[in-house]
Amino acid sequence: MTYGLPSIYLDHAATTPTDPAVVEVMAPYFTTVFGNPSSIYQVGQDGRAALDRSRRTIGAILGARDSEILFTSGATESNNLALKGVAWAARLAKSEGPAPHVIVSAIEHHAVLRAAEAVAEQEFDVTVLPCDVDGLVSTENLHQAIRPETCLISIMYANNEVGAIQPIGQLAAIARERGVLFHTDAVQAVGLLPLDVQALGVDLLSLSAHKFYGPKGVGLLYVRKGTAIRYQQDGGGQESGRRGGTENVPLIVGMAEALTRAESLREAYADHTSDLRNLLWEEIQAIVPDVRLNGPDPGESRLTNNLNVSFRGVQGETALLGLDMQGVSASAGSACTTGNSEPSHVLLAMGLTEDEALASLRLSVGRGNTREEIEDAAVAIQDVIARTRSLASTEPR
Ligand SMILES: Cc1ncc(COP(=O)(O)O)c(C=O)c1O
Repeated sequence: MTYGLPSIYLDHAATTPTDPAVVEVMAPYFTTVFGNPSSIYQVGQDGRAALDRSRRTIGAILGARDSEILFTSGATESNNLALKGVAWAARLAKSEGPAPHVIVSAIEHHAVLRAAEAVAEQEFDVTVLPCDVDGLVSTENLHQAIRPETCLISIMYANNEVGAIQPIGQLAAIARERGVLFHTDAVQAVGLLPLDVQALGVDLLSLSAHKFYGPKGVGLLYVRKGTAIRYQQDGGGQESGRRGGTENVPLIVGMAEALTRAESLREAYADHTSDLRNLLWEEIQAIVPDVRLNGPDPGESRLTNNLNVSFRGVQGETALLGLDMQGVSASAGSACTTGNSEPSHVLLAMGLTEDEALASLRLSVGRGNTREEIEDAAVAIQDVIARTRSLASTEPR
């Protein structure tokens, strides 16, 4: 219940509630085991031990060595560190010749796209790969974009707006064949897709704990052993000198617990979310006219928790406000740009018109949702879309 309204939360791609079991595991590290892990006395060393344990747990889940896991403040930092850190290391290694070249895709989160823009401002060369109508990047386009001076490719595992799942194994194999490092933003994949970095063949991978029922403000960057990466903030020598700053022990412990739970529930979570997402899409199609699905058809190229639809003639943001009044939380475009009515760069890259993009809603289901909630949400959507359309048709032109 929120503010006395029945609350149906359909925005799990934006964030998830922290699992109470995770909060419980974190609690002692705020109060009793509060020492700085760099301190040599007992309470500090107890913090260090918790940090080491968390790194081991996470490393085992990702198929990585402990030393390959860097703790960060979230995926925004991880993505920035991956792009800027690898590009700078490439420049430092080779100051002569053409500028190092970085490839990203057009449907990346802004944490990658803006980092790529910042890299381009430092006179690196950047290519933005297009996607198809479903938001998928082609292996052929990637092949063609690689140059002798390409140092890094960054393509997300699964898209946060339309749930498109990239063929990461194939894309990473191309990078490896051509001797280029490959980074993936795997934020939206956790709990739904396999995360083994060896099977995926990636060199760097970003995660953010609050997307998988962990706490906000903590994430990680996997960096394959031997990958040259320059730290991005000056400070202490934490995280093997690659990320200065006192480690956030309670949040890191929470992230390890949340990742363990997400992995153990993965199959059940995929079944639960696909059941609810499919029901929601069926209900919406049955009762709301003039609606289109954005992104891949439900199936193996789409995250099971994601639905993204455009309602003809409707402003997504207006519909969101109406839904909020009925106790349904969803998102128009990407959550990080909510409050900004620019059409989504992802939907535009997929070929939608500005009007179609602005008419979109993202509905992402999660652990706590029930079939009853989904049926109620569909009725709320029908009501809000009908009202929004009738208001739009009576507005003076
Ligand atoms: C795909 C993706 N990458 C990166 C981020 C940024 O994560 P954070 O805000 O936790 O740093 C998000 C958050 O929306 C995301 O969905």
